[in-house]
Parts: sequence; C-alpha cells; structure tokens
Amino acid sequence: MTTLQKARSDVLFEGLTPQPPDVVLSLIRAFAEDPRAGKIDLGVGVYKDEAGATPVFAAMKAAEARLLETQATKSYLGPEGDFGFLEAIAPVAFGHTLAQTGMFGVQTPGGTGALRLAAELANAGRPGATLWLGTPSWPIHSQIFAEAGLNVRTFPQYDAAAQRLLFDEMLGALETAQAGDVVLLHGCCHNPSGADPDADQWRQIARSLAERCLVPLIDLAYQGLGEGLEPDALGLRAVLDQCESAMVAYSCDKNFGLYRERTGALFVRAGRHQEAARTNVLKFARCGWSMPPDHGAAAARIILEDADLAAQWRAELETCRQRLASVRQILAKADPRLAPIGAQKGMFSILPLNPDQVGRMRAAFGVYMLGNGRINLAGLTPSNIEAFVRAFGACAEE
Ligand code: LMR
Repeated sequence: MTTLQKARSDVLFEGLTPQPPDVVLSLIRAFAEDPRAGKIDLGVGVYKDEAGATPVFAAMKAAEARLLETQATKSYLGPEGDFGFLEAIAPVAFGHTLAQTGMFGVQTPGGTGALRLAAELANAGRPGATLWLGTPSWPIHSQIFAEAGLNVRTFPQYDAAAQRLLFDEMLGALETAQAGDVVLLHGCCHNPSGADPDADQWRQIARSLAERCLVPLIDLAYQGLGEGLEPDALGLRAVLDQCESAMVAYSCDKNFGLYRERTGALFVRAGRHQEAARTNVLKFARCGWSMPPDHGAAAARIILEDADLAAQWRAELETCRQRLASVRQILAKADPRLAPIGAQKGMFSILPLNPDQVGRMRAAFGVYMLGNGRINLAGLTPSNIEAFVRAFGACAEE
C-alpha cells in the first residue's frame, strides 16, 4: 500500500515565524491584567490628567457634535482625504499655507500611516535607500522602514546612562550620509528620551542636511506638548527653510486627543519629482487603505476653522503641556538622579535604570514602563508620584 502525502494549503504560510508582541502596545494588556491596587501605568504614550483619565478634549466634543449635525453624506472623499484638514494643519505645523510650503499633503491613518507612506515613497524612488535613525527611538520606527525595504542605519543620539543628547554623534552621522539618504528626526518631544536639540542645534542640523543633500523625514507627533505649538515647530521649520526635499509625518493623536480615530498626514516636497512623488503617494495610499478614516480629521478641521473652538483647543492643549512640565519639575527635585528630566520635553523620559531594575520596578512595585526605562510622565499624578519616587529610589543604583 502506498502512502500518498496529502497536499496542504497551509504551505503558503510555512515561511512565517511567530512575532514577539509589540513592545509598547503589549504593556496595555499586561497592566490591565495586574490585580494590584497601587499599580502605576507609565507605558503607552497617552496623555492623562491628574485623575489618571484621558478625556476627549471639550473642543473636540463640540466639533464632533457639529460634525454629526451637519454631515450630509459619508460618500468617499478620495485618497488624499480631507483637503480642508490638510490646509488647516499647515499653518499650525509650518506657519504657512500649504501652497507656501511647496509641499503636497495626504491625510493618513495616524502618524504611523504617514511614516509608512514616506517609507514606501522613498523605497519606490530609490529601492533600498538608506534611512538614518538616531537611537534610541520609537521602537516601531525601524520596523516600519525595514518592512518597506529601506536600509536602516543607526547612530547613537541619546546616552541613557548619562541622560544627555549626543549631538556631536548626530552631526557626525550626518557627515557620513550620502546625497538622497533619508534622515528621520523627531520634530519635538523626542520619543523616548524627551531630549530635543535646542534652536542653535536645529540650525546646525538643517545646514548639515542641506549641504549634504539629505532628505529629512520629520516625525511631528507631539506638537504643543513640549514648549508650546509654535516653539515645538521651530526645528521643523528651520529644516524646511534649508532643505529642497523633505517629508513630514504629522500626528493628531496626542495634540487633539484623537488616538484611536487614527488622524494624521504626510507632507512631501520632492524637488523636480513633485508630481511623480504625489501620484506615487496616492497610489500607495489607495493600495493600503484606499481612503483614510474621516471622522478625526473632519473634527480637527472643524476646530481649526472656527476661531472660538481653535482657541479652546489651544487652551486645553496648553493645560496638558503645563501638567507634563510640572510633573517634570517635581521629579527633577525629588531625586538628584532624576534632575535631567526637568530640562527634557514632552511626554517621555528614560529613567537611568538597567533592564533588571526596570523588571524590579514592575515586579515589586507595579510600575509599568518600556524595557529601556522609558516612562510616560502623564501617568504620574498627585496620588501616585510619591510612591513612584520611592520605588525608583529602591530600584536605582546608588
Ligand atoms: C508611544 O510611543 O507610546 C505612542 O507613540 C503610542 C504608540 O503607538 O506606540
């Protein structure tokens, strides 16, 4: 009797190996499953108020109510999404109209969608193009760029033990880059370190990029949460003033509190290849999601087009910013090892802890953070900050 090997269709999937859970998002579940009452969530980058809540901005609630009342159709808009949204974001981010920037814009599902489109565009323009990434960075950056086929090269940008920006290393890396290479830069509120270049350093970065014909890809995901809407855009604007080609991935997740609505945009300036870049981006968008989700962008547009709602939104955002800044000052004064946090910006800082100490913070004290010691400062409130400082003191090196 012959044994015939039965054919199986799952051979299609035989090249797959299970992937590790996402290092940021897996913390949401791990924290939820921890039964301890005094646990502290400093994981995923979501703003929280003093009560530990992430409420919808009041300006957003009002805009959403208006949207519900006035929206006459949910018919398709097209792969660019909402042009009014793109035009309304431009003055906030760039200080100019979109036409004045020389960029085209495409609405995307969050900042991540914009980064992915930028990566696809770079790889289509120059297959296997090099993308320079300072480390540490948002852990998903390198995955997005590598998945799209780019050659990711890293350079040290922040010394977590010494808690300082490695600016000379950053400039040194740019010196070795070649014309047409892409350089990923965090526009403000560096994730994970909170260590941003100052105005003069941004000017040097801009000059270096322009001299070497490098293409900045600026990830602006926290505008308004560092020093304010305008100051947080100055680095980006310095770079755009100097560089011929540039890409900007904009996220409204944090500064409009839109998170799960997935609201963002990609803006591109591509020199002689502007029309080819624009139409390729539209093709990638069409092949990825066809059209971006509308709701968040429509509501953000309503806010920005209405002077009263825009003022209310700015005030609410400023309240968030001030709370983050005050948590920074409390930490900086609480323990000399946390002092550098006082001069850093935005939602994140990296604690001077090794992975074992990070593990101990979780196991012994229920404090959740990324494995590299990144904390979301918004998770610290008047009711838990003292417990956090005590836990840090118990786990950190003397
Ligand atoms: C973070 O870094 O925690 C946020 O940007 C959320 C995310 O998508 O990872």
